[in-house]
Amino acid sequence: MTNLATAKTISNPVFDVDAIRREFPILSQTINGKPLVYLDNGASSQKPLAVLDAMDRYYRESHSNVHRGAHTLGDRATSAFEGARETVRAFLNAKSTRQVIWTRGTTEAINVIANGLAGKLKAGDEILVSHMEHHANIVPWQMVAERTGAKVIPIHVTTAGEIDMESFDSLLGERTRILAITHVSNVLGTVNPVEELIRKARSHNVITVIDGAQAVPHFKPDVQALDCDFYTFSSHKLFGPTGIGVLYGREELLEAMPPYQGGGEMIERVTFERTTWNILPYKFEAGTPAIAEAVGLGAAIDYLDSLDRTGFEAAEKALLERANRLVETVPGMEVIGTASNKVPVLSFKIAGLHPSDIGTLLDQQGIEIRTGNHCAMPLMDLYGVPGTARASFAFYNTLEEVDQLFAALQKIQRLFV
Ligand SMILES: Cc1ncc(COP(=O)(O)O)c(C=O)c1O
Repeated sequence: MTNLATAKTISNPVFDVDAIRREFPILSQTINGKPLVYLDNGASSQKPLAVLDAMDRYYRESHSNVHRGAHTLGDRATSAFEGARETVRAFLNAKSTRQVIWTRGTTEAINVIANGLAGKLKAGDEILVSHMEHHANIVPWQMVAERTGAKVIPIHVTTAGEIDMESFDSLLGERTRILAITHVSNVLGTVNPVEELIRKARSHNVITVIDGAQAVPHFKPDVQALDCDFYTFSSHKLFGPTGIGVLYGREELLEAMPPYQGGGEMIERVTFERTTWNILPYKFEAGTPAIAEAVGLGAAIDYLDSLDRTGFEAAEKALLERANRLVETVPGMEVIGTASNKVPVLSFKIAGLHPSDIGTLLDQQGIEIRTGNHCAMPLMDLYGVPGTARASFAFYNTLEEVDQLFAALQKIQRLFV
């Protein structure tokens, strides 16, 4: 049996996690008298100095409204804002910045897409989602289905937490119009085989929408290689600020979609008789955008690009392996989501303990995790649990923090079960 005494720290010479942690000021504080161990990265991750400084500098030196062209500050703000769009384009490997639309986050991006595709749906059409979706990739489709008479159908998920390919193959058919699926599950950590799912969907002329919210903090997606129609993510999970996210779309589809909101910026010409729409991407960006937040997201991506990706991925893999190895040291602990391809996310339950009590007791030790249904109620129902405890790691977490989590879980189990 593995125990904490025998589980030696594996140091990674390429990836200097101590140096990296110094870039994240929030991490070096105490919570309830204990050093903070932040393991709720799946909900929202922390921000490096590069992001804080970029936003601070933007407000101190360059802030004005964008796309007005009347003065120097306006030009500076516009070039910072559009520069960030180019950074996102390169991050996704999109062909053009016309395909990169700012939204408030993944949730809004999926709502824009669902609303925009509603005109293509009629009664009897089918929208495939999976049983492991976040509510953000279920509810907008249900709302559109209600309006159009289409149906939202879940693809089955196996006990290990993987997409059941037989279920997918049997559901994909004549009536399928849209496949909306997560790249990585926020509860299970499963990395879904989206390339294969997209390839099969496209052979049936099905539009593909990928929820990348939990993927981008761990790896770079390549939208051209994936060949998806839409890809969405939120900045705040990618070490950037809250309040901004991204909708990538295939240009022909974006051109054909109606705008989501009306107002300034998204128009070409307004008269009381008729209004025409601005070109992409502005057609979907009504009102003054989140300028400083776009700048912050650009800075987060630049910061990530400055890190050694191989070291980054090896460090994350080591965190997950260490956590998996220590599970057996906590009596009654069971992991939910044991897919072969996972990011470092550990959802679990412990016999005799309610997930929310686990969260509260860990917080007393300075360890921050998330508990509850994780906005994935259908998945909780599938596993027959009211909720889980979830530790979600980022590249700045250490193997020592994994050990601290498990030492605290052992203590909680001993004292309260
Ligand atoms: C897989 C997934 N999709 C969508 C969302 C929604 O993201 P946001 O709240 O940033 O819009 C989340 C957030 O937890 C998520 O994990």
